[in-house]
Amino acid sequence: MKRLNSQLQNDGAPLELILLIRTLLAGCKEISFRVSQGALAGVLGSTLSENVQGETQKKLDVISNQILKDILSESGYVKAISSEEEDDVVGCNPDGNYLVSFDPLDGSSNTEINSLIGTIFSITHAPQWMEPNDPSAFLQPGTQMVAAGYVLYGPSTMLALTTGRGTHIYTLDKTHGGFLLTHPNVKVPEQTKEFSINASNQRHWEPSMQSYINDLLAGEEGPRGKNYNMRWVAAMVGDIHRLLCRGGIFMYPYDKRDPAKPGKLRLLYEANPMAFLMEQAGGLADTGDGRILEVMPTEIHQRVPVLIGSKEEVETCLSYKSK
Ligand code: AHG
Ligand code: MN
Ligand code: MN
Repeated sequence: MKRLNSQLQNDGAPLELILLIRTLLAGCKEISFRVSQGALAGVLGSTLSENVQGETQKKLDVISNQILKDILSESGYVKAISSEEEDDVVGCNPDGNYLVSFDPLDGSSNTEINSLIGTIFSITHAPQWMEPNDPSAFLQPGTQMVAAGYVLYGPSTMLALTTGRGTHIYTLDKTHGGFLLTHPNVKVPEQTKEFSINASNQRHWEPSMQSYINDLLAGEEGPRGKNYNMRWVAAMVGDIHRLLCRGGIFMYPYDKRDPAKPGKLRLLYEANPMAFLMEQAGGLADTGDGRILEVMPTEIHQRVPVLIGSKEEVETCLSYKSK
């Protein structure tokens, strides 16, 4: 089986980017080990602090963030990082050529139930002009990413990665510590009978989203003429992994509760990297108002609505807006 390094070379990734990705993944392997220790290492449960977004931090949120921050700052490749768990941009090496954004632990409420969690990341070039702690350089549309991916800490530790030449999935071989290419060039089926949404929020959605979901629930007897199945992992990383493996549509739609939070998911740390992976696998990723990758961020912790997955199903969902 092909190793990560050789696939990245095949895809034409520059040496420094390959070294950066491998450094980041060394951090993820450490997170994978800490996660697997669970209660034995005392890493489960909450801290007493909140992140900048008002969410109570789990111990593993803080540990994972620290691991990635340390390894990336010390690598020399990185000018600055932005993280879901950091209030502000963190400056690293002033001569670094890359910026890295990450959600160190996605789905962290799942730590308590030994269920799926992961790390999501994206990499862009660092502009020459930027000071290491200047957040404005992170305010680039997702189309500027040079790499994005996630590491899923499940029964196997798996990596989905794109550098813009397709989406490849690797499995961590813990006997030698390397990621091996187990699912090359994944393609998401264009049609699906599977959807993911937290339906407990239904009353807060826009009418078009309510009627789209009602039509899915109506099954064979409804306008869609087929029976759908519903899945919800409560970790985007787990839901998107399922979509990359067998298709589906995942939604965290516009929610009218708080105009300051038009969606739950974060553009830089969640929506953009998943959109890049999905598009490279032949799927679509939209906010409901346009392509996620073309959103011009206004601040690093910005949230956006997310509709992502199998091409035809996302298109159908979007068509309800104009009905
Ligand atoms: P995080 O753990 O990084 O805060 O992200 C959780 C996100 C996302 O992964 C998941 O799809 C969603 O929140 C789950 O939301 P619900 O609480 O509505 O299930
Ligand atoms: Mn998350
Ligand atoms: Mn998180």
